[in-house]
Amino acid sequence: MSNIVTPYNDTRSKKEQVEEMFDNIAHRYDFLNHLLSLGIDIIWRKKAVKYIGSIQPKKILDVASGTGDFAFEALSLHPEKVTGFDLSEGMMKYGREKATKLGVSNVVEFVKGDSEKMPFADNSFDAITVGFGVRNFENLEIGLKEMHRVLRSGGKVAILEASMPQNAIIRSVFSLYFGKIVPVIGKMFSKDARAYDYLPESVNAFPAGLEFVRILENIGFRNVKWQPLTFGACAFYTMEKPLNSLKGT
Ligand SMILES: C[S@@+](CC[C@H](N)C(=O)[O-])C[C@H]1O[C@@H](n2cnc3c(N)ncnc32)[C@H](O)[C@@H]1O
Repeated sequence: MSNIVTPYNDTRSKKEQVEEMFDNIAHRYDFLNHLLSLGIDIIWRKKAVKYIGSIQPKKILDVASGTGDFAFEALSLHPEKVTGFDLSEGMMKYGREKATKLGVSNVVEFVKGDSEKMPFADNSFDAITVGFGVRNFENLEIGLKEMHRVLRSGGKVAILEASMPQNAIIRSVFSLYFGKIVPVIGKMFSKDARAYDYLPESVNAFPAGLEFVRILENIGFRNVKWQPLTFGACAFYTMEKPLNSLKGT
């Protein structure tokens, strides 16, 4: 990607800045997420989990898992194991607490690491979910190739990402909300001056819709489809790793 948008616009790598930002806002992440999306993010994750449910996955990887909402939603599929994987220990601390509270620590585990270099064997997961994570990758293609590598042939991936509505009128209302109101509320509650400016900036810079579909196809995914959810405030991407694909790329 040519347009690199980073949280703090300093000389550190995007990865270091993203990790620090999520560590900073972790204590308010769930609250702000549900508040700013008016709780609709829960419906988006349910829809995505339904998609991967068609293959009854036993081993699920939730990339950029954060506080684990996608991982916990996937429990409705009764998997053997859900692995939440994330850069930010601060975010996963809340995920682990939620797992303990729900009594599911034996099924949901959290592993720290970088999606561009995952510590998992080839073909080791039946399904992968990513919620609002790919936009934060430093190198999008490398992260996607890693997902392709660790997914088994015939496995499914569901990606949710924040996006800008296509319709001009809805887009202008949404831009006002996302570009002006969200940063003020985000700043007020998270105490991180940049995090909720970075949110609309990174959404604008992300290659959304058909452009992202083409990137996913080039990586090797097949049957790649996307659909806008809630007037395009969220984009939902679905795909499979072809049956004849033995290894990653
Ligand atoms: C907006 S949060 C999403 C959390 C969760 N998936 C959800 O649906 O609410 C994005 C997460 O992506 C993680 N992240 C960003 N870049 C990453 C990378 N390269 N490897 C692993 N995690 C990453 C961040 O640490 C953060 O927890």
